[in-house]
Amino acid sequence: MSLERRYQNVEDFAQVARRRLPKIFADYIDGGSFSETTLRRNREDFDLFALRQRVLSPLAATSDLSVTVAGRLSKLPFGPGPVGFLALYRKNGDIAVARAAAEAGIPFVLSTFSINGLGTIREATGVAPDFQLYLDEDPEVNAAHLDACRVQGVERIFLTVDTAITSVRERDVRNGFRGVDRMTPGLLWQFAQRPLWSLDLLLGGFPEVELVRGRPEFGRGAMAQAGNLSRRLDKNLTWDTVAELRHAWSGQLFIKGVSDPADAARAREAGVDGIVLSNHGGRQLDHGRSTVAMIPEMREALGPSAALVVDSGFRRGSDIVKALALGADFVLMGRPFAWAVAAEGEAGVAHLIVLIEREIEITLNLMGLSSMEELRQQEDCILRK
Ligand SMILES: Cc1cc2nc3c(=O)[nH]c(=O)nc-3n(C[C@H](O)[C@H](O)[C@H](O)COP(=O)(O)O)c2cc1C
Repeated sequence: MSLERRYQNVEDFAQVARRRLPKIFADYIDGGSFSETTLRRNREDFDLFALRQRVLSPLAATSDLSVTVAGRLSKLPFGPGPVGFLALYRKNGDIAVARAAAEAGIPFVLSTFSINGLGTIREATGVAPDFQLYLDEDPEVNAAHLDACRVQGVERIFLTVDTAITSVRERDVRNGFRGVDRMTPGLLWQFAQRPLWSLDLLLGGFPEVELVRGRPEFGRGAMAQAGNLSRRLDKNLTWDTVAELRHAWSGQLFIKGVSDPADAARAREAGVDGIVLSNHGGRQLDHGRSTVAMIPEMREALGPSAALVVDSGFRRGSDIVKALALGADFVLMGRPFAWAVAAEGEAGVAHLIVLIEREIEITLNLMGLSSMEELRQQEDCILRK
C-alpha cells in the first residue's frame, strides 16, 4: 500500500511505530509523567476552542502558509521539536528528519541528546540546524557545545529549562529504561521480537552520541551516554544562567519549557528572542495546565516583539491553526516526528509534513482565509466553545 493511503494522520504513524520499535523505545516516546494527566490534558484542551466557518469570501489561488519567527522565514507554521535519540528509532533518524524538514523549508532543532551531530546534519542538509541545549554540570562541556554551535554556524539555540529534575515516567521505570547501559537478556528478547528494527539498528554496531563521543566521562554506547547525559544535567539553572548564556551567545536565544505568564514576563526582561511554551509533552510536571489553553495569557505576558513558539500535544493541522489564531507564532511537534521516522524514515517524515500542511490549508480555506498572515490579523476567528 502506498504511503499516501496507509497514513492519513499522526495516529496512523504512531501505530506502525509501536509495532516496529522495541517496547522500551515505543514506551519512552509515548509516555508522560506519573498519572499522565498533563499528557491527556494537552490533547483534550484543543476541544475548548472552535473555529469560525466563513463562506462566500474570495480565496487566493494558492494559500500562503509561511510565517516569520524572530526574523526568519519558515514555509510552514510548524516543525519538528528537539527529540533525543531519533537515530535509535531508525538508523540516522536525525538526518532523516532534518533532510525532510530542509526539503519542506522548515527549521530543524537538533537535541543535545542526538546520535547524529551538528556537523553531520549540516553536511546532510546543507544548512546548520538550530540546537537544543541541555546544560551539563561541567561548564567546560557547555563551552564545548557552544563552540561546536559556532563552528557549524548555528543561528538559534533553545535552552531547555523545564528539566531541573527528571520526572518519573512509570512506563520507563517498568521497562528499566534509565538503568539500561548494556545488553541484558530481557533487552535482547525485546530486540529479537523486532527483527526489522534490529537489522536496521544493530548491524554496523550500536550507535553513539556524536556530541560526546570519545569523552570517557559519558561512557560508550548511546544508552550509557544517555544515562550519563541525564544524570549530569545542571540542576541549578536560574535566571542568572539565562543572563550568562545571553552574554556568551551572540546568536538567537530561545528558552524552552516556559509555562507560566510570570516566567514569560521574566524571559522578556532577560532579553531572549523567544520562548517555547511547553510542558515537555506532559513528560515533566504532571497536573500542570495544557499549553494551548495558556497561549493568550502567555502572549500578553511576553509582549508582541518576542517570538512565542508552542508545543505539547499538537497532532492536527487544525491544532496549529488554533495556536496561531490564539497568538502563537509557530508550533513544534515532538512525538509525531519520532513516530513518522520510526515508521517510514525520511519518506514518512516528508509525508507527515504534507499531511499536516494540507490539513492547515483546508482548515484555513474553510474559515474563508488563504494565509497565516490573514489568520493572525483576523479578530474573533476562534471562539471558546
Ligand atoms: C522521545 C522524546 C524525547 C525528547 N527529547 C527532548 C530533548 O532531548 N530535549 C528537549 O528539549 N525536549 C525533548 N523532548 C520534548 C519535546 O521537545 C517536546 O517538548 C514535546 O515532545 C512536545 O510534545 P509532543 O510530543 O506532544 O509534540 C522529547 C520528547 C519526546 C517525546
